[in-house]
This record gives sequence, C-alpha cells and structure tokens, in this order.
Amino acid sequence: MSSHPQHLQIPADASRLPMTLPRLTDKRRLGEPIVMVTAYDFPSARAAEAAGVDLVLVGDSGAMTVLGYPSTVAVELEELLMLAKATRRGLRTPFLIGDLPFGSYEVSDEQAVTTAVRFVKEGGCDAVKLEGGGAVSVARGRAIAGAGIPVMGHVGLTPQTSTALGGYRAQGRTGAAAARIATEALALQEAGCFALVFEAIPSAVAAELMPHLEIPVIGIGAGPATDGQVLVFHDLLGIREGLGARFVKRYADLQVEMTAGIAAFADDVRARRYPAPEHGYSIENEELEAFRHHFRGRRPDA
Ligand code: KIV
Repeated sequence: MSSHPQHLQIPADASRLPMTLPRLTDKRRLGEPIVMVTAYDFPSARAAEAAGVDLVLVGDSGAMTVLGYPSTVAVELEELLMLAKATRRGLRTPFLIGDLPFGSYEVSDEQAVTTAVRFVKEGGCDAVKLEGGGAVSVARGRAIAGAGIPVMGHVGLTPQTSTALGGYRAQGRTGAAAARIATEALALQEAGCFALVFEAIPSAVAAELMPHLEIPVIGIGAGPATDGQVLVFHDLLGIREGLGARFVKRYADLQVEMTAGIAAFADDVRARRYPAPEHGYSIENEELEAFRHHFRGRRPDA
C-alpha cells in the first residue's frame, strides 16, 4: 500500500459544519431528511464524511460485517471501542454514535453509564445507542441521558434480542405488537433519548407513530414516514455475500469489485506482469557499481 493514501483523501466540503443536536432538531423541524450510515473503520468513515452524511453509527452490526461473527451477540465492548476509535479518526462533521454491545449495559444503570462514558472518552463518540424499549432499556437510557451522554433508542427488530423476538423478522405486525412498539418508543422519548431507530416495522405503523414523537426517528425497514433513513455500510455498498434484508437497497457491488481486483493482481503476479518497471525504484549506475564492489568483497565465494 502507498504511504500516501491519496485514494482516501476525497476532499470533503470544508464549509460543512459539524452536526450537533440542535442542528439535528432543526433538520427534523424543517422536514429535511436525516441521513445515517454505519461505519466501522477509517476508510468507511472517510467515505461517510466525503459523502456528507449527518449521522454515523459504529453499529454492533460490525460484529458480523467486519469481524465475521454469526450475530451481534458475541462482540466484545473492547472490539467495538477499537472500531469506534478508528471511525472517529476518519470523521470531522457527522455526529458519531457508538452502539452499546449486548451485555455491556443491561446489568445495572452503573454498568450502562460506565460503558457509555467509555464510548465518549475512549471511542470519541458524541452519543451512544442502546436496543430495546422494555423496562430495563428505558431505565438504562434514562441513566445514560442523566449522566449527560446523548442516547439514541432502538425499537422494532432489535438484533441483540432477536432470539427472544423469534429471529430476524419484522416486528409490530399485529395490533398488540404494534401497540407495544408505540409504548416503548414513547417511554424511550420520555426517558430522555435524543432520537430513535425504528427497525423492520410496518410502514403504516411508523407513519401512525410519527406525529406522536417529538424527537428525530431514523428508520431502517420502517417506510418513508420517519425523519431519516439508515443503512448498514456493507449492505448498501454490496460488501457481502447475498442480498440481505428486504429493506436493503444496494447502491454498489463492491464485494464483486474487490474480488475482481484481487484476482487480477493474482493473475498479474502469476504471469509475471506485475511489477512492471514503473513500479520499481532506480539507482544510479555508479552507486550500483559501488554496491557490487562492497558486496563482492563480502560473499563467501569471493
Ligand atoms: O448495528 C447496527 O448497524 C444498527 C443499525 C441497523 C441501526 O443498529
């Protein structure tokens, strides 16, 4: 790799102001769609910065997309903190949210606040996100907000507890289930969350709920009525095998491009087409002669 990664230095709009909570509130009030993506490292953060997104989430989806776990449940706090630090280094303007991993906040308010503080102090995050709208998550959300750390809620399909939800499937598809999601969303808002994620719930349920919420709602598989939309970086760019959930729209096919690039490199190496002369460094003839002279003197057969 080049020591000057110019391909990562896409000029971001220098005049763009950093996203803040008041600006986020303004966007919602003005009806300007809010754009959020996940990112997990320096290059994905640079791409999000250059594209001018509003919010970046270091999602625990990184457990699967970049760390190769079969679900989000296994990822360790330390692993997500490392991803958050790398992401922070690539961002200037988007508001950075760190996802609290499973097991890092449920046990007590103290555990939740301690973990949230680590995301802010060590990970450089502006805020954290937690999953679920039951009594435990609402209490933890209240404790984190009470400690002065902005916290985002997440209802509907909550992958950390997908086993209890019956798998990775849409939620809120019965009247009772939709009412439960409404109760959870309102409770998280009341607990002090600055925003919510609605994941995989019927568009009509999201649309009914929106007028009852005063904080920005970011949807993923929740239809067009929410204040903004989020997609997982690897899903939207096609850095994965398979298509993913029905709500994913793919904007690129980078897995195919990456494989093709590596295969072309492998072909070149095997056919001795790479490296070509332009990929090498030169030395003045007299210096080469001097080297040969020194080296000859050191060879055991000299
Ligand atoms: O971890 C994640 O990527 C998320 C988004 C889907 C909101 O929680």
